[in-house]
Amino acid sequence: MDVFELLKRIRLFWSRIPEQVQRLSLLAVFFIVLFIPVRNLLVPKDFGKYGHYRPSALEEAAAQEITYAGHEACYECHDDVVDTKYHGYHKTVACETCHGPAAAHTEDPDVELPAPRERGYCPLCHEYLASRPTGFPQIVSASHNPLKPCIACHNPHDPVPPHTPAECEACHAAIARTKAVSHHVYVPCVRCHETPEEHKVSPRQHRPSKPATREFCAACHAEGATTELETRKVDLATHGERYTCWQCHYPHLPGSR
Ligand code: HEC
Ligand code: HEC
Ligand code: HEC
Ligand code: HEC
Ligand code: HEC
Ligand code: HEC
Ligand code: HEC
Ligand code: HEC
Repeated sequence: MDVFELLKRIRLFWSRIPEQVQRLSLLAVFFIVLFIPVRNLLVPKDFGKYGHYRPSALEEAAAQEITYAGHEACYECHDDVVDTKYHGYHKTVACETCHGPAAAHTEDPDVELPAPRERGYCPLCHEYLASRPTGFPQIVSASHNPLKPCIACHNPHDPVPPHTPAECEACHAAIARTKAVSHHVYVPCVRCHETPEEHKVSPRQHRPSKPATREFCAACHAEGATTELETRKVDLATHGERYTCWQCHYPHLPGSR
């Protein structure tokens, strides 16, 4: 078959292709031809020397200003903090994660470093999220002691959960002081308020019970009630019968009416 014949066949083939495909093919050929000079123009000369990598990028990266010092650098001057953190739950959290880039500070301590003292910071890692790994310590910050900064209770360098206050008095000082001088001094708070342990950690989420009926007080004060404490008795049927007892008697200071 001669060249003429070949051209003839190609032409025949071309004429059978739909018109829109013809246009697309021309466009494709145009871009392929364009690509060859553009590639030579745009790809850096040293590309490919070390595989799929540009060697001069190494120098450029090395020439960038150093802003992070690395946690080893802190030991020289803050060995106490480094030691504390090393033994605590935050041992895997780098100093500069919380304090920011510190290279300038390590060279000249007069360059001050910020410390994230505000409450909004710690929840970045500790806010409850269903996607965090199981067992990762999480809180719901809206209900976890919302009025104080986190560092009021947790040491950021050794964040052990603090000692939970054992006494109601630690948080309900006014009520405890009032009750202490009342007729109810020997009635323990938990006799009237069943208090879940969690209340002392997340008070608004886990609420203690409160007396709900006259019969509750009657357990000690109704005629014929037998209690461990000596009490004055009232006739439940006639004494303020239409009201709950604490509409007339403040339960934490029952002498006042
Ligand atoms: C050459 C000594 C030196 C080095 C190294 C050094 N610091 Fe300091 N740093 C100081 C001095 C001095 C102060 C100011 C006195 C003080 O508060 O203890 C200070 C204060 C701080 C403060 C106090 C901020 C505040 O609000 O109270 C932080 C945070 C801090 N440094 C973090 C770091 C971290 C993180 C590193 C390591 C990347 C580091 N420092 C390395 C000397 C140093
Ligand atoms: C989880 C975040 C966090 C990490 C990690 C952390 N810090 Fe702190 N750092 C804080 C906070 C918050 C304060 C402020 C504490 C305060 O005011 O009671 C602080 C305070 C400081 C202070 C000044 C007061 C003090 O306690 O001496 C220094 C110095 C310091 N950090 C150094 C470091 C060094 C060094 C490291 C790494 C070994 C580090 N921090 C790791 C959050 C962090
Ligand atoms: C960069 C993420 C990060 C930040 C920011 C951070 N933490 Fe942590 N925290 C951790 C990791 C990781 C642990 C260890 C978890 C483990 O042991 O499984 C931890 C553990 C704790 C624990 C221990 C809980 C327990 O009993 O297991 C407390 C409390 C805590 N952090 C409080 C804080 C406070 C307060 C701040 C703010 C000053 C803070 N964290 C900021 C990552 C972070
Ligand atoms: C008024 C004190 C107080 C404040 C303020 C406080 N916490 Fe706590 N936190 C506690 C106590 C108490 C526990 C102990 C929980 C326990 O024993 O189960 C605790 C436990 C935790 C735990 C461990 C939870 C777990 O499941 O192991 C994390 C994490 C934590 N707090 C983070 C924070 C963060 C973040 C903030 C600030 C947004 C904060 N806390 C503010 C008192 C406080
Ligand atoms: C860590 C602090 C803390 C401790 C400890 C604590 N409470 Fe509370 N308690 C609170 C807070 C905060 C509230 C919520 C007050 C509010 O909602 O205005 C509350 C609310 C209550 C309420 C009212 C519940 C309601 O639904 O109105 C009762 C009752 C109560 N506490 C009893 C107790 C008793 C009893 C103890 C001791 C066994 C105790 N609390 C220990 C902080 C504490
Ligand atoms: C004799 C039973 C009794 C004892 C003991 C008692 N309470 Fe109460 N407390 C009540 C009753 C009743 C209410 C009111 C319920 C209502 O209003 O619905 C109440 C309400 C409260 C409230 C809600 C806020 C308020 O002032 O109304 C708190 C908080 C509380 N008690 C804390 C305590 C604490 C803390 C102690 C111990 C120091 C204590 N109570 C001891 C019966 C008692
Ligand atoms: C309508 C208001 C009212 C109600 C409701 C009420 N009280 Fe009283 N209570 C009083 C008054 C007023 C006194 C003092 C006058 C008296 O001694 O009769 C009193 C006195 C008492 C005394 C002392 C009795 C004595 O011998 O000094 C006790 C105990 C008492 N109340 C218990 C209760 C109990 C328990 C309830 C709920 C079952 C209750 N109260 C409901 C108004 C009320
Ligand atoms: C565990 C038993 C007990 C319970 C429950 C109890 N009290 Fe009392 N109450 C006492 C004792 C003990 C006294 C002191 C002796 C006395 O005055 O009767 C007292 C005294 C009182 C007084 C007499 C105050 C005075 O001025 O003489 C009143 C009123 C009173 N309680 C009301 C209540 C009310 C209202 C409730 C329910 C919220 C209640 N009590 C629940 C044990 C109890």
